[in-house]
Order: sequence, then structure tokens, then C-alpha cells
Amino acid sequence: MALLPLQLWIIKVRHFPNKLFTTTGYPFENNQHHRQCQKKRDSALIAQAFTETAAHMGATVTDYYLNAMQYRGCQGCEGCHTRSDRCVLKDDVTAILDDLYSADIAVFSAPVYFGDTCGQFKMFYDRMWSLIKTDATTEDDSSRLPPVKTAVLILSHVDATGAHSDVLDRYSMYLEFYGFDVRIITAAGIRIQPNTDVSVFLNDAAGLARE
Ligand SMILES: Cc1cc2nc3c(=O)[nH]c(=O)nc-3n(C[C@H](O)[C@H](O)[C@H](O)COP(=O)(O)O)c2cc1C
Repeated sequence: MALLPLQLWIIKVRHFPNKLFTTTGYPFENNQHHRQCQKKRDSALIAQAFTETAAHMGATVTDYYLNAMQYRGCQGCEGCHTRSDRCVLKDDVTAILDDLYSADIAVFSAPVYFGDTCGQFKMFYDRMWSLIKTDATTEDDSSRLPPVKTAVLILSHVDATGAHSDVLDRYSMYLEFYGFDVRIITAAGIRIQPNTDVSVFLNDAAGLARE
């Protein structure tokens, strides 16, 4: 399977939770620049190590490639809290948001760009606003998603370990707000040059999938 940006996988396995989905964020896919730059996509490789291990264990995987998808960022219209209980924007992200309701594991993977996740990922992430209940009374009761899901959050960046812990903290906090039990893989200190050895992170991801 080609490594594509902003992926989403859904997996079904017997002794694995029923479904898994992954969003992996990196740009340039389906784009001449991508073919020219020949940069491997570390965040996608790591997410794929997780999903391939899960698939090997019998999972059914569904992939969504966000960078090849047409979608808008959240418009802040609050239609999801007034006239619908789902995001009222209808585009390629609609299916992803719908799948979140039935997924047991969601793998979110993105590179760090200028101290946050890349824009493609952030645009998708903002659309998850529609997963918050309108009438939530407590933090524990704020998510429209069925309870007990796991989120695997994968971030890659060139800076040293801990340099972007604020990003991890922030995204973890919101994932917990949605009711996810959050697991983190940080691929820090990754060199910008192609062919950097990321095998240690691939092993981490595969190991986590086997847990
Ligand atoms: C536009 C842009 C901005 C970046 N900003 C940061 C940054 O703020 N901190 C950092 O550590 N790395 C930064 N990087 C490096 C990427 O996070 C790093 O190369 C990452 O491993 C790429 O992941 P990928 O291989 O999945 O695309 C930036 C890269 C680009 C292209």
C-alpha cells in the first residue's frame, strides 16, 4: 500500500477491538512535488506499522487519505449543536466523522509544522467539534461518541524529545474530552533528510498494536 497523507484506517479483528481508524497528516500526496522530493513520510510509516500489525492480527482496515480529499475546516456555524447532532458540512470528512462513532481505535498521526500539527490534520481535527454534546453537563459526559475507545496519537518532528510536548498535551486533552483512552508515540529528533532510520518508532508502533 502506498504511503499517503492524512490517512484513516478502520480495522476489524477478533481479539482486537472491532474497528480502528487512522488519520495521518502530511502533504504533497498526489502532487508532482511529492514525486520530486521523494521524502518518505515518517508519521505515515509509523501509523502504518501499527495498522499493518493490527491487520496481521485479523483486523479489517479502512483507509482514508485526507490529503487527496476535498473538505473544509470547521466554519464555526454551530449547526452541529443547533439543527443537527452531526457536522452539517457535507464533504469527504463526513464519512470519517461517521466512522468515529463505530471505531474502537483511532490512530491520529501528523508531523509537527511550526509548533502544531500540519494544517491538513488541524482542519480535520477542528471538524471533531461536532462530536461534543450540546447539552453536556460534565466533562465526563461531553462526548457524543460511544464510550471506551482508544486513540493512538503519533507525532513526528525534527526537534528533540519534549520540544513539542505542548502539542501532545493539548491534543491528548481534547481526545480525552471525547472519551478516548490516549496512547502516544512521539517520533522526535527525526532528521529532515530522506532515508532516516525510524525503525525504533516502527517497532514501538507495532508493539503497541500487539498490546
Ligand atoms: C512547513 C514545515 C514546518 C515544520 N515545522 C517544524 C517544527 O516547528 N518543529 C519541528 O520539530 N519540525 C518541524 N518540521 C519538520 C517535520 O515535523 C518533520 O520533518 C517530520 O518528521 C515530518 O513528518 P513526515 O515525514 O510524516 O512528513 C517542519 C516541516 C515543515 C515542512
